[in-house]
Amino acid sequence: MSFDELHKNIAETLSKEVDSICQQFTVTETKMQELTDYFIESMNSGLEPLPEGETEGTQSSRLPMIPSYVTGKPNGTEKGLFLAADLGGTNFRVCSVVLNGDQTFTLKNMKNKIPEYLLDDENVSSEELFAYLAKRTGVFLKRYYPTIFSNPDGEEELKMGFTFSYPVNQTSLCSGTLIRWTKGFNISDTIGKDVVQLFQEQLEKEGLKRIKIVALTNDTVGTFLSHCYGSGSSNSLASGDVSEPVIGCIFGTGTNGCYMEEIENIKKLPQDVREKLIASGKTHMIINTEWGSFDNECRHLPTTQYDIDIDQKFSTNPGFHLFEKRISGMYLGEILRNIIVDLHKRGLILNQYRSYNQLPHRLKTPFELSSEVLSHIEIDDSTGLRETELSLLQSLRLPTSPIEREQIQKLVRAISRRSAYLTAIPIAAILIKTNSLHKRYHGEVEVGCDGSVVEYYPGFRSMMRHALALSPIGPDGERKVHLRIAKDGSGVGAALCALVA
Ligand code: GLC
Repeated sequence: MSFDELHKNIAETLSKEVDSICQQFTVTETKMQELTDYFIESMNSGLEPLPEGETEGTQSSRLPMIPSYVTGKPNGTEKGLFLAADLGGTNFRVCSVVLNGDQTFTLKNMKNKIPEYLLDDENVSSEELFAYLAKRTGVFLKRYYPTIFSNPDGEEELKMGFTFSYPVNQTSLCSGTLIRWTKGFNISDTIGKDVVQLFQEQLEKEGLKRIKIVALTNDTVGTFLSHCYGSGSSNSLASGDVSEPVIGCIFGTGTNGCYMEEIENIKKLPQDVREKLIASGKTHMIINTEWGSFDNECRHLPTTQYDIDIDQKFSTNPGFHLFEKRISGMYLGEILRNIIVDLHKRGLILNQYRSYNQLPHRLKTPFELSSEVLSHIEIDDSTGLRETELSLLQSLRLPTSPIEREQIQKLVRAISRRSAYLTAIPIAAILIKTNSLHKRYHGEVEVGCDGSVVEYYPGFRSMMRHALALSPIGPDGERKVHLRIAKDGSGVGAALCALVA
């Protein structure tokens, strides 16, 4: 066989293998129906009281479905100054929010990239983490509110809402114990502890006694509330708008969503708590589903060998958040990295490197390939995929041939498409469970979304729409769903929580 023939042969085999991998990433209409049914089942069981002896979040077949203790929706007329702290996937944000009472707000914001050692080092203690958060809060206060900072004994309290975007067993609006870390943290001594107490203690040690954390919330709940505030939800009928905010969700480093459930259905809340709430006129409570943990047993989730490897070999929480590991920004690049390494092992790609050891260091480093790189590859239409070539060189120091790049682009598109298709499952399931598409006049609903993937990944929202039309709500249901980007959810949402506290 001539060199050219051999080359052609390898290219054809590579293309065939890639097609068969892409095939494993497709989510069919039948699969969507099956997954949506199972999602509704898992939500229902998650609302039931925990089986005896079980702790929240350890059972794989039910969704955590965490009561948030937030029982109302803002309508845009709320007012006041609040502080908000937000520990999420990659950043710790401190902000002050002035709610102007007319659906608008003014925000002062300081974003801190979480230092690597807090994420990677297993020996880091809770105290070190929360001391860091308190220090950064002090820096914020000194910069934006110097008179309050220099007067720590002043009388007036500054109310703070704490957005803590990890699974928490919430015990009241202002307390909750960490069930487990997700999205990279691995500090074992935080588990089981009340994160509000840990943070408040460190704020006091830092001399920030005037700051009082009055509400603990999840980023999805914040997104939902801030979306309601911005859209003036309860006034919407008066303004001629007939759509209703129903879901708050995040598609970023992680993924999760919340919605309002009838208090009567939240059987896991002690009966006296339910009765008291209902007696005081409350009918609904926001539930943080923690849908990242949907189907941790992989009974129905589409699963490839790469998903198994990432979960078992590379993630910090093996066996948990398996839905998230197929969807969110933290994992999209890692899926591609695993596939490329596998294709190389099978002699189909990057043959200039004779062995695994010779591969560029960055390609061998878990989680080195970011979803941002995939977003460039996704839409590259340059000749010979030059953009892709540069992106891979820059991010992984990885030289590629045009044929390899063509295959890598196919893989990227299959990975992102599966992610977007899977996002339609919880959305459809919640809309069906709450019967939202058949309520009110036209049954139009709003889904407030936040997170880097839904906001910036090219074509992601349009793929979500395709998937919603294929899901059990069908094209008629899909037309009633308005996906809206809710910016600054965790800041404004935490302020709104602090306000009701
Ligand atoms: C992870 C967390 C969840 C959070 C989501 C989005 O899934 O467990 O609490 O809402 O990421 O940030």
